[in-house]
Amino acid sequence: MNFPSSLLSFLRKVERAVVLTGAGVSQESGLRTFRDAQSGLWAQYRPEDLATPQAFARDPQLVWDWYALRREKARSAEPNPGHFALVEMEKRIAEFTLITQNVDGLHQRAGSVRVVELHGNLQRVKCSRCGQQASAWEAASPKVPQCLRCGGLLRPDVVWFGESLPPHALAAAIQASQTCQVFFSIGTSGLVQPAASLAYAARERGAVVVEINLEPTPLTGQVDFFLQGKSGEILPALVNATWPSEDSPGQIRE
Ligand code: OAD
Repeated sequence: MNFPSSLLSFLRKVERAVVLTGAGVSQESGLRTFRDAQSGLWAQYRPEDLATPQAFARDPQLVWDWYALRREKARSAEPNPGHFALVEMEKRIAEFTLITQNVDGLHQRAGSVRVVELHGNLQRVKCSRCGQQASAWEAASPKVPQCLRCGGLLRPDVVWFGESLPPHALAAAIQASQTCQVFFSIGTSGLVQPAASLAYAARERGAVVVEINLEPTPLTGQVDFFLQGKSGEILPALVNATWPSEDSPGQIRE
């Protein structure tokens, strides 16, 4: 795989980097991207119709069951070479912030340390009434479990359409994006705000913007480098091409 030498020499000098990831990064782990068609029983629903507070109020069981399935799929999925390449990148760049819209936890399972979860995490559950996080619930029960404190229905601790992002995560994401030298947008369609605006915030402050995606997105016309293809192939190749030294912590499988 050939990369522009200007990109490689720039990356070797970078001290502050931000990576924003989306569902495309987990696609090669077998997890569907958000806007892929759903299959089977769920084909009649659009995720946008399930991932809202209104949907949960209308039919909590339906929403709980959909997330239970996604939680199981995420649990049985494994990080792919794209996730591992980002772990290697973090080791080589002094200030490295990985901002993810993914709720599957695969970055942390791969070994990434500084991860900002913008949209929450599927494996966590909180009360829809009092907000208290629940560490244990009756997973075997087919019914929507209830909060031990207030009796409210439990829900996944993810951000739904129309809800605010966790304030600390959003503040950290904005701060890192405004001060980085390079901003990577990887495997995200760039359709959901405020995540989509982070690349522009970085660009306005002078960061070099690099996009990795299977196909062009609304951001593509604004980036300095567009690397088209699968993140699980491009990222390991990019890391190996940028830091090919023998004393590297281990070449990544491409
Ligand atoms: P999308 O499903 O909107 O977009 C996935 C992107 O990944 C698309 O642009 C694909 O072209 C690209 N893609 C697919 N496979 C890829 C691969 N192997 N390598 C590289 N790129 C690949 O997912 P997101 O952008 O993550 O929010 O969606 C953002 C948010 O929208 C989600 O976090 C979710 C949803 O609404 C909430 O749930 C709040």
